[in-house]
Amino acid sequence: MSDHDKIYSTKFQDTLERKTGLMAITIAVAVAIGGIVEIVPLFYLPNTAMCATMAGADPSCNNTQHKTRDGKVIPMDKIVWNPATSTSKTLNDWKPGDGVRPYKALETAGRAVYIREGCYTCHSQHIRPFRDEKDRYGHYSFAEESMYDHTFQWGSTLTGPDLARVGGKYSDDWQRRHLRYPRDVVPESVMPNYFWLEKKPVNVEETVATLKVMTKMPFNPVPEKMYTDAYGADYQGARTELQGKTDMDALIAYLQGLGNHVKIEEGVNYRD
Ligand code: HEC
Repeated sequence: MSDHDKIYSTKFQDTLERKTGLMAITIAVAVAIGGIVEIVPLFYLPNTAMCATMAGADPSCNNTQHKTRDGKVIPMDKIVWNPATSTSKTLNDWKPGDGVRPYKALETAGRAVYIREGCYTCHSQHIRPFRDEKDRYGHYSFAEESMYDHTFQWGSTLTGPDLARVGGKYSDDWQRRHLRYPRDVVPESVMPNYFWLEKKPVNVEETVATLKVMTKMPFNPVPEKMYTDAYGADYQGARTELQGKTDMDALIAYLQGLGNHVKIEEGVNYRD
């Protein structure tokens, strides 16, 4: 037997690999430890956690800044929209590039359609920092870009393209034609037809209830003032925005708002 053919394994590994059940348990333990080590620190490190989400959150935090434990403020105004420092004071004045903002009423309704229809089973919303992804989809995603996403829509399957920066890539008209019958515009597409979304009116009260819940989330809640300044204390403005709209209109509004919140400047390394 040549050296080449020898099987190098320990007795422990040998036993493990012959016992499927034990192997499965050890894999689960290893993955769980790895996952915890990776995820838990993100909730506590000052430069990854917004001040309102850190243990012992302080009321002066408006959710658009990081704070170190000794109180030093790290402003995030360039990435997260802060009405106090921005020239756009309410959600209605907000323009693309002003920074990450919470979803408007119609977009919130569209997001619910996106989840209900399982779009995430084929599409991710998370551009990884690799050259090929950057060339195809645009700048890699920032953590803050999904800070108001409860639950996040990062996804893991790329049957279809990543949608994290699809906002503004096509006209509303293209989106409508494509969602109705994808093969009308992309003959080789395997995406299902969604023409019936045009017949379904948006659920106004459910959407208003969702907006209110978003202000109470344990992590990165939407500062309530952002909604009440735009829609009034009774959210009547949100109902007006949703009036007469269909699930299709809502879904298009949601897609057109994806990924254009932050003004990405050439040459800036956003990981610093
Ligand atoms: C079975 C998998 C599948 C599902 C489910 C699916 N898509 Fe797609 N989608 C695709 C594929 C494949 C493409 C690429 C071909 C094309 O443009 O149609 C695509 C393309 C797209 C595009 C164009 C992206 C670009 O950059 O060109 C958008 C927008 C889109 N899908 C939105 C949606 C939405 C919204 C839903 C849910 C209502 C959805 N998709 C459900 C597979 C899917």
